[in-house]
Amino acid sequence: MCGIVGYVGKKNALPILLEGIKHLEYRGYDSSGLVIGVHSNLKNTDIFFDKSVGKVSNLEAKVKKSIRPKLNKITKFNSQIGICHSRWATHGIPSEENAHPHFDCNKEIYIVHNGIIENYAVLKAELIKSGHKFSSETDSEVIAHLIEEEKKKLKGRVRIEKAVKNALQKIKGTYGLAIFDVNEPEKLIAARNFSPLLIGIGKGEYFLASDATAILKRTRKVVYLEDNDLAVLTPRGYKIVGLFKRASKRTPQIIDWNMEKMKKGEFAHFMLKEIYEQPESISDSIRGRIDYKNNKPVLGGLQLIKKDLKNIKRVIISGMGTAYYAGLLTKDYIEELAKISAVAEPASEFHHRKQIYSKDSDLFLCFSQSGETADTLSALCDAKSHGVLSLGIVNVVGSSISRTTDAGVYQHIGPEIGVASTKAFTSQVVIGALLAVLLGLEHKTLFSHEAKSILDEIKKLPLKIGKILEDSDKIKQVANNFQKYNNFLFLGRKYNFPTALEGALKLKEVSYVHAEGMSSGEMKHGPIAMIDSTFPCIMIIPKDSVYEKNISNAEEIKARSGPIIAIATEGDNTINKISNETIFIPKTLEIFTPILATVVLQLFAYHFAVARGCDVDKPRNLAKSVTVE
Ligand code: M6R
Repeated sequence: MCGIVGYVGKKNALPILLEGIKHLEYRGYDSSGLVIGVHSNLKNTDIFFDKSVGKVSNLEAKVKKSIRPKLNKITKFNSQIGICHSRWATHGIPSEENAHPHFDCNKEIYIVHNGIIENYAVLKAELIKSGHKFSSETDSEVIAHLIEEEKKKLKGRVRIEKAVKNALQKIKGTYGLAIFDVNEPEKLIAARNFSPLLIGIGKGEYFLASDATAILKRTRKVVYLEDNDLAVLTPRGYKIVGLFKRASKRTPQIIDWNMEKMKKGEFAHFMLKEIYEQPESISDSIRGRIDYKNNKPVLGGLQLIKKDLKNIKRVIISGMGTAYYAGLLTKDYIEELAKISAVAEPASEFHHRKQIYSKDSDLFLCFSQSGETADTLSALCDAKSHGVLSLGIVNVVGSSISRTTDAGVYQHIGPEIGVASTKAFTSQVVIGALLAVLLGLEHKTLFSHEAKSILDEIKKLPLKIGKILEDSDKIKQVANNFQKYNNFLFLGRKYNFPTALEGALKLKEVSYVHAEGMSSGEMKHGPIAMIDSTFPCIMIIPKDSVYEKNISNAEEIKARSGPIIAIATEGDNTINKISNETIFIPKTLEIFTPILATVVLQLFAYHFAVARGCDVDKPRNLAKSVTVE
């Protein structure tokens, strides 16, 4: 959700913090702020502080005038320290007061926070009673005041980490926290419970970040913090201690992401770049994972649990948003190819309901690009706490979900920066198909020749997507023609029911128009009442086993004057008689039509939103990674 960057070392902290927070802006962008301490000797620490509403560029412009000139005058210093934050509002409107960093009554303890403090109202009331004055409506501010209170109780020369530890014992909720006390100007404190945080290791300098992308330019050596970790960082090193018990030993990891993937290059938006990356990202996701000689998938991440897969009788699938829709499609693949019963449910509902697990024969499978989605993590933890075997299909290496599952398959698609998920979806679906084939072979429900035809077709998908991208002018033209419409219905059946949901989600999140995705069959049970000449339907209607039924639904819409945009298989010469516009996708196996159709829908949403003047990479009210429930 919110982005956090911290720095302690011998360099100028300001550019490091701004550069880092810009990379994290996709996590939240309604306001931002920073505090910097410049430490010259034990008695002399200068503090610089500023906040701004809106995008990080607003903060950057502000500090250019307020902080930079003053900082530039300080040429000699022992160390600099700083924490920075970009916010996605939970408690309190986006405003300067509610932007982080928050501070205590004396403006000595500064904190930035990602997460939710569930008992903040009670704590705040108690603190106000003891004389604390609050400057914001946020839940986060109580942390600074609580630490101040604990410091008071400890009296005398107390180390900030002790006060933080005591304060956090009182807190119920989730947090990724960076804390700076001006009285200990070479110490950066970090703490984590449920919200992601990592330490970047440099030479004589250390970084904190809620997401590795913030610091990759500075270092690739990182240590991921775990729940209930408290870390102390100084220019001389870092140590991780437990909040409640001794922390386990951590080994630093090297992140091998390509920095080029974090730049837009010649593309106008990350969303467009990532749509165009799909031939490559699918190739990256399948590289080395198909044994074409023996017609079977090779998923190294599942090697250790492969024998357990034989006992699976039910697969429980979860995720959120686009990742959930990839899971929904994978459910169909698993049932069809492996003949194993599968259920799929959004994680936000899943973990609130009583689940009846069969621990020896259930498999919990979750999908998440970021690996940090709080709802998905909660669902996973629930399944794990009941002893159920868990797998993850995750992109971000070392993320919370990837570290919590028993085993998994990484997507290897590089960073996805656009808030609207695109390349993550197609990669997840392809990996879902590989998993279904693997299960089918393990359970002997799929013949080798059937596996072969699926695996051969997967290999061809990058080329077929490339064809859609090459011919995308038509999609742009259709999007432009329809840009004045404010309501859309997305319809699909069987494998393309999840496609309809994904198409609608893409359109609403980047263009803010009303869009509903549903199965074509569902439409006549109520929603058809909305249809008239002002309400277009986007129908995913490839030549597949449900083609005729879809055609009947299209006729029903046409009979009520509803404009139809059809996504159909090339060579279908009859569809034009019903549809107002047709966009063709190359022929493929029925199970893979959703992948090709989704690329069309991604491009449609993109061009439609651009035509309406929307900021597709940073849609209003959204954040890339939703780390609160
Ligand atoms: O990082 P995750 O894949 O777990 O994220 C899940 C959803 O929040 C995400 O897919 C969201 O729906 C996207 N913005 C959709 O484009």
